[in-house]
Amino acid sequence: MIRTPVKASKTYEIYTGSGLLDSCGKVMREVSPQSTKLLIISESNVAPLYLDRVKDSAVSEGLEVFTFVFEAGEASKNINTISGMWGVMAKAGFTRTDLVAALGGGVTGDMAGFAAATFLRGINVVQIPTSLLAMVDASVGGKTGIDLPEGKNQVGAFWQPSAVIEDTDCLKTLPDEVFTEGMAEVIKYAYIMDTSLYSLLEEKAFLGIGIRENATLMERIVGMCVADKADVIMSDEFDNGRRQTLNYGHTVGHVIERNSNFTKPHGVCVAKGMGIIIDACEKAGTLASEEASKMRALIKAYGLPVDDDITPEDVVSGAMNDKKKRGNTLSVILVNKIGVSEIKKMTPDEFLKFLKGDGASC
Ligand code: GLY
Repeated sequence: MIRTPVKASKTYEIYTGSGLLDSCGKVMREVSPQSTKLLIISESNVAPLYLDRVKDSAVSEGLEVFTFVFEAGEASKNINTISGMWGVMAKAGFTRTDLVAALGGGVTGDMAGFAAATFLRGINVVQIPTSLLAMVDASVGGKTGIDLPEGKNQVGAFWQPSAVIEDTDCLKTLPDEVFTEGMAEVIKYAYIMDTSLYSLLEEKAFLGIGIRENATLMERIVGMCVADKADVIMSDEFDNGRRQTLNYGHTVGHVIERNSNFTKPHGVCVAKGMGIIIDACEKAGTLASEEASKMRALIKAYGLPVDDDITPEDVVSGAMNDKKKRGNTLSVILVNKIGVSEIKKMTPDEFLKFLKGDGASC
């Protein structure tokens, strides 16, 4: 097991390893010793697989366990589902020292985190991510929230968990396409900040998504990603600077995702977004062609696409409607050398020229 400390507005640890679900009650007891009640929040795909194990582990630590299982999918990520969670806690008499656990992927973690952040003005939450994407990204760093009809994650709060418990055995039951989309976020860390992770992913690229069969390797890879994310969170918890580098590929990816009415998976869109930025940096002459080719090849090796038929005009108009936009400029994340990222402010016009390869330098 790997233990990764995070020191932000809350100090906590990320536990990454095989078989951790059966001891998650012990961690919950340690990080929230005064809790008597626990609400486990999960969704309809994950609950049948893992809910009983988490529940048994918590009961063995003397916690009185309540459960809330919602219909899996982004469509559930709304205030009605949160209201159901608040209702269970209110009826059961939860107090400020009681605890919430989020068992599932990114949607579960975001919603359970938001319910915990807002119930009684904030109670402890433990994140137990079961997807690769949630393990390496969503569960770490305290971003919580729900969607509005007007857009994804429009309402939310920063609310750091009290612990993140990542049982890498859960990766074995993920459908291939769900595992694959998580690899986009893994590759993102390699590109923005981690040459050791890049070398490891390149060395194992011949395995493709077959790497999931190797438990030790997956523990190592997930551990490297969470250490990277923890490092970023510790230097910019509230997303005013360096944390924005985690959006590499996302500015373009979010537009592709929205334009597909969310039928294209998030990680696939991030991979496409990274590919489009790689092409633009290569055309601008700031990213060497050899490096650009290596970057595209790695994304493809793990079963992900590097292009899309979206036009530069559609990318720019979509990006201007993104909630992450500040004022009239866009913060575009660039990688001109593997392992090094920068935040470049661009006007919509500059961004368009950059995407078209019309002489705008990056
Ligand atoms: N998912 C990006 C972040 O946590 O900031």
